[in-house]
Amino acid sequence: VQPLRVALLGCGVVGTAVARLLTEHADDMAARVGRPLQVVGIAVRRAGKDRSETGVDPSLFTTDAEDLVTRADVVVEVIGGIEPARSLILRAFEHGASVVTANKALLAEDGPLLYQAAQEHDVDLYYEAAVAGAIPLLRPLRESLAGDDVRRVLGIVNGTTNYVLDKMDTTGAGFAEAVEQAQELGYAEADPTADVEGFDAAAKAAILASLAFHSRVSGKDVYREGITEVTAADVHAAREMDCVVKLLAICEVTDDPAEPGGRGISVRVHPAMIPRTHPLAGVREAFNAVFVEAESAGELMFYGRGAGGDPTASAVLGDVVAVARHKVVGGLGPGESTYADLPILPMGRA
Ligand code: NDP
Ligand code: HSE
Repeated sequence: VQPLRVALLGCGVVGTAVARLLTEHADDMAARVGRPLQVVGIAVRRAGKDRSETGVDPSLFTTDAEDLVTRADVVVEVIGGIEPARSLILRAFEHGASVVTANKALLAEDGPLLYQAAQEHDVDLYYEAAVAGAIPLLRPLRESLAGDDVRRVLGIVNGTTNYVLDKMDTTGAGFAEAVEQAQELGYAEADPTADVEGFDAAAKAAILASLAFHSRVSGKDVYREGITEVTAADVHAAREMDCVVKLLAICEVTDDPAEPGGRGISVRVHPAMIPRTHPLAGVREAFNAVFVEAESAGELMFYGRGAGGDPTASAVLGDVVAVARHKVVGGLGPGESTYADLPILPMGRA
């Protein structure tokens, strides 16, 4: 059986975890897809960097990403930023490859262009990891709730700022010190300004609003305030009032008689004081939590690890399996699975 060729673009926090898990889970993934997956190359920027810590076979590394994307069936883009990520994804489509990406900045800026290009070339574009790390959130919005009327999506979608605000609240850490810790833990973007100024949350809010409300919302449409103006005194004052400060993303359909159909969309990101009794107040460290309110489903809550290598890689690999299943003629369909035939334990044993 010919393996399905996977090209990985980027081997930083997320890429390293993806490469490791692709190796560790190779047999299980082959069984789930119906064909083995073979990593054919990993594109990086710095040729001379010592990457022995990643545990990746050094012969896989290349700085020629343009060539790599032409040699793959599935391209995983975890470089980040707009260029060269956008050109590489478009090039991958042109060569018949499907793409899995975690790049919310690019999706919020140019999502429609990418979806259209994928459609034109009859390939897939999956991006579950782009919002809220490991939490399965985009697929439920796009698929499970497609027959409902989603009215509101609200929550914490940036792990770095939640980590910083949490540390300021619970340990009295300073802003700069907490940002540094978030960077060390692999939560922050390559340029943490994207996190602390709210650009990352705004990009995620745009993606959420686009899916939830079947609209085209870009990062520029989102009202944005980050947490750089939040001082230790603000956090202390909130504490005195039995509240916490959180950076919230709020996407709402509002009744607006001025709009055609009497509805409008409001999307915003800003810090807010939340009573300690509210479920969002209990979201600690780099965890994320998102409430979705839909007309028939009512209120749903999604919670989990919103940043970091392994949690993000989990979402990326889920997309790789989904894309790979589409690519495999005669392989397992989206709803099918294989069974590991694990023994059923008697009651009372774990
Ligand atoms: P890193 O900065 O840790 O890694 C980026 C990788 O891309 C590096 O290996 C870098 O190479 C490589 N790279 C950069 N430019 C190029 C280029 N021109 N050609 C080839 N390779 C290049 O980023 P992360 O892993 O943290 O993030 C990657 C993506 O995942 C981003 O879109 C981010 O928003 C998203 N994401 C990140 C999460 C996280 O928790 N970190 C969570 C969810 C999404 P080199 O090693 O040589 O520098
Ligand atoms: N920098 C992002 C965050 C990574 O802190 O949430 C996850 O998207």
